[in-house]
Amino acid sequence: MRACQYSRTGDSTVLNVVEVAAPLRAKGEVIVEIVAAGVNPLDVKVRKGEFFPIAQRLPKIPGCDIAGYVQEAAPGSQFKKGDRVWGMLETGFCWVKTGTHAEMIAAPEKALALIPKEVSFEEAAATASVAITAWQALDVDRLRAGQRVLIHAGSGGIGHIAIQLAKNAGTHVITTASTGNTRFVQEVGADEVIDYTCADFVKELKNRPVDVVVDSLGGDYTARSRAVLKKSGRYAHIMANGWSRLGYGILMSFLLEVWQILQGLIVGLLGMGPKHQPVGASPNPQQLNRIGALMASGKVKVHIDKTFPLEQARAAHEYQEKGRPRGKILITMK
Ligand SMILES: NC(=O)c1ccc[n+]([C@@H]2O[C@H](COP(=O)([O-])OP(=O)(O)OC[C@H]3O[C@@H](n4cnc5c(N)ncnc54)[C@H](OP(=O)(O)O)[C@@H]3O)[C@@H](O)[C@H]2O)c1
Repeated sequence: MRACQYSRTGDSTVLNVVEVAAPLRAKGEVIVEIVAAGVNPLDVKVRKGEFFPIAQRLPKIPGCDIAGYVQEAAPGSQFKKGDRVWGMLETGFCWVKTGTHAEMIAAPEKALALIPKEVSFEEAAATASVAITAWQALDVDRLRAGQRVLIHAGSGGIGHIAIQLAKNAGTHVITTASTGNTRFVQEVGADEVIDYTCADFVKELKNRPVDVVVDSLGGDYTARSRAVLKKSGRYAHIMANGWSRLGYGILMSFLLEVWQILQGLIVGLLGMGPKHQPVGASPNPQQLNRIGALMASGKVKVHIDKTFPLEQARAAHEYQEKGRPRGKILITMK
């Protein structure tokens, strides 16, 4: 099969589209013929060696979102050949499973769900991991209508889906975005936009505290976001996975994040401030089914910023690396 692969970590030039052996199915896995796969910030961090480099095995195929056809499943599997499936691969605290920027993958069955017929492969691949992350950060079933939710980076992959999930739960959504993206996040559903290039969200929300903050930026945003929460509120800290927006070294970023989480957990547990909820998203087919139903009924719509063929995987990674996608970037295999 064809796959985008790298044999050493580094900048995007280490990526090459090459012929590799097709994957073999292990216990609990199904072989999926991939139609489309999302590109995520994590792909860039892992490739650059910024995500626990010691734990990475090379050569490596990037990619953790998946949408395609089941090619082969074990007897008794819930899936059969030809099923349309989607999902995300698991990322642990210091390890990551990747491999979707390729024509085929042996994927864990427990990470997959059926794609609703109303949803295309492209939409499914672009949505899977950001929607699961947004769902788990918002803790959707705990949201109550009328609550005020602040979602940072509303124009990004996680952000623009989180806005829609929070709106669908009946909350009042405030988001941060740059000037060029304010209209986009309003169209996606945000009730209020704070243009972070000219306004400080802490000042804007000083006398109007919120119930929930979803933060995928971290760094100094953590303490500042906690400051705009009600004491009874919740700070969903989407972990940056070994890298910080502020560009600290890997070790410093990691230690800072661990310290922020510990501090937040203690404050929350002692009832001295908002609860701190570290978010490390994990595959969840039940949540995918619910997200799929919202997509099928038009209540959640993914915005695909740019689509690249597999041959241009390097360009796709470079586009992601600029850090300014509006919605999602996609790689298609045909
Ligand atoms: N822990 C987990 O399970 C997990 C899962 C998925 C992702 N993540 C991490 O979460 C982070 C976000 O992922 P993503 O897929 O949403 O990224 P993304 O799509 O690349 O998001 C980029 C967005 O961030 C916005 N942005 C940048 N600086 C900002 C600021 N100061 N204030 C407000 N918005 C800002 C940009 O919008 P503008 O152009 O408007 O600035 C851009 O739209 C990454 O670090 C990723 O690795 C963690």
